[in-house]
Amino acid sequence: MSDQAERLRYELGRRRQPAAGPRTIAVTSGKGGVGKSNLSLNFSLSLSKLGFRVLLLDMDIGMGNIDILLGQSSPLTLSDWFSARLPLSELVKSGPEHLSYIAGGTGAAQWLSVDRSAIDYLLAELQTVASRYDYLIFDMGAGASEERLYFLKSVDDVFIVTTPEPTAMTDAYAMMKYMHTAGSEAPFSVIVNRAGSEREGYGVFSRLQHAASRFFHKDIALLGVVPEDRMVARCVVRQTPFVLFDPAAKASRAVRQMACRYAAGGEKEPERAPRFFAKLRQLLLER
Ligand SMILES: Nc1ncnc2c1ncn2[C@@H]1O[C@H](COP(=O)(O)OP(=O)(O)OP(=O)(O)O)[C@@H](O)[C@H]1O
Ligand SMILES: [Mg+2]
Repeated sequence: MSDQAERLRYELGRRRQPAAGPRTIAVTSGKGGVGKSNLSLNFSLSLSKLGFRVLLLDMDIGMGNIDILLGQSSPLTLSDWFSARLPLSELVKSGPEHLSYIAGGTGAAQWLSVDRSAIDYLLAELQTVASRYDYLIFDMGAGASEERLYFLKSVDDVFIVTTPEPTAMTDAYAMMKYMHTAGSEAPFSVIVNRAGSEREGYGVFSRLQHAASRFFHKDIALLGVVPEDRMVARCVVRQTPFVLFDPAAKASRAVRQMACRYAAGGEKEPERAPRFFAKLRQLLLER
């Protein structure tokens, strides 16, 4: 770890209250295929590399692919957790850079299919496992089902991924409006992925910001611009995360910078985790 990373870790560790649990982040998008899973994974690895304890959860249950991007196989996934009620800790796998992750699997099990006692059990399990981490990152998949909305309304931060394509931008806007209207109070941070240039990325964000402020009065932030980089697709084929395969590549640098900026600025509220679990429990029981 570099001196700079050590210093950052030390400073953030000092500011962290003992009662503070992990910070929770949902990564979502309107349109599919815009880069959520790649960004969730490489962002998580960048935070791990800085020395943070990160648990990445593939919430695209049924179509999960975080383990595939890592070139690992996961016999136990979140799908099994719902169906077999295995201890959650048995599902946690070790990735590179001390990253922990839970694969999504290919089953169809859902929070909506479980009863009240199962919700209490599952959430208690999740909270116990979560207490060992600084960050919980949920790769949510595209669009908003009723179930996804519970998570999107409970987390501390929502990252919305878009590309400069008009269809992706329109869907990102629609997704933000939907979350806002449904009562999400978390800050929305936009990641513009596959940008042809920094300028194009800022332009995309600026249009989304303008529309969000004008039409639903929400102040959104730019988390970062990640350039179009052919190395990303090559790494998907190699099943190796790009920040590890080629740390000097344009996309790797952009994601690392994003993680550094986020970690340095994201330590404002001490009592986070209890709020996340309390909110999620309330939403799941109220349905
Ligand atoms: N910055 C980039 N530069 C070039 N290609 C990229 C970049 N980001 C993503 N891609 C391409 O987009 C593809 C889809 O990425 P990814 O699977 O992460 O999207 P997703 O949003 O998670 O999709 P889904 O909605 O299906 O879950 C990758 O396999 C890669 O080929
Ligand atoms: Mg995905």
